[in-house]
Amino acid sequence: MNAAEPDQLFEDEASLQLHDDGSLRHLLTLKGLDHSMLVELLDEATAYLTPESDLPARSDALAGRTVANLFFEPSTRTRASFDLAGKRLGADVLNLDVNTSSRKKGESILDTIYTLEAMRCDIMVVRDASAGVPAYIAKHVKDHVSILNAGESDVSHPTQGLLDLLTMRRHKGGFENLNVAIVGDIRHSRVARSAAWGLRTLGVGSLRLISPPALAPETDEMRFAHIVDNLEEGLADADVVMALRIQRERISDLDGIPGIDEYFANYGVSHERMKLAKPDAIVMHPGPMNRGIEIEGALADSAQSVITEQVANGVAVRMAVLERVARSLDKR
Ligand code: CP
Repeated sequence: MNAAEPDQLFEDEASLQLHDDGSLRHLLTLKGLDHSMLVELLDEATAYLTPESDLPARSDALAGRTVANLFFEPSTRTRASFDLAGKRLGADVLNLDVNTSSRKKGESILDTIYTLEAMRCDIMVVRDASAGVPAYIAKHVKDHVSILNAGESDVSHPTQGLLDLLTMRRHKGGFENLNVAIVGDIRHSRVARSAAWGLRTLGVGSLRLISPPALAPETDEMRFAHIVDNLEEGLADADVVMALRIQRERISDLDGIPGIDEYFANYGVSHERMKLAKPDAIVMHPGPMNRGIEIEGALADSAQSVITEQVANGVAVRMAVLERVARSLDKR
């Protein structure tokens, strides 16, 4: 799916992920989650954050539950943090090695899911390069199974969106007066889409999406954001600057995409460029980073950067999401 996909699919996903009583059954997209649900999830994640000098937070909220991580696309941060989040909540965690699984012998994705369902996996964490896969699985699983989207094509990455929102909130307090600038390959970015929908629901002051024209979102998408192709204009007075990598694995035609040197010269986020943003602006990046392309390496390692905090917040957010869907499963 690309940015021009009709809203209807999102509406279906948005309703599929909630029980009739409004509780969270699956997490497929941030679109459709209301303000109070987002705030509660951020509050619940915050409760799982501990100082670096302390041991990580633990609970037995998922004792007896089984979480299966099914990553049909590469991942470091999301997969590792779901693994740790499940273990720190007392769950059994299964990390299926997709490369040595029977998917390689032609087994369908649903047959893989039904197999794991029969082994009493309660929560399945799914990353896939094709659009619609998490919702497709969610439509087919039994009532006692929950599906969490861990990154879906260029469409959605809801736990990344939540951890980005949490990081902004912890540094800036709230969203109403916040100027957020997201720089890079917006068109192919599930991270930008999830952040944008969450920010919209939380009433962000302003959202600027900055990219070369070939990497801008479709005109009808994200109408609430300002689409900008000039980096200097987009960074002016920003409170939060998030750099994104070019998602080359999702680009079939590289026509119009600048080369590395040209890209860094025009869209690379650097110390020099950050002088245009507010003096206390934070620098974010979802990772994986390509230093020297979308972000200057020294800036990524500087005091202005909150990139490793994003990673830490990711574990807390995934604990909060796992606990919430498990609570919802407990009631069924
Ligand atoms: N940000 C993110 O999704 O990183 P991974 O691909 O390493 O999970």
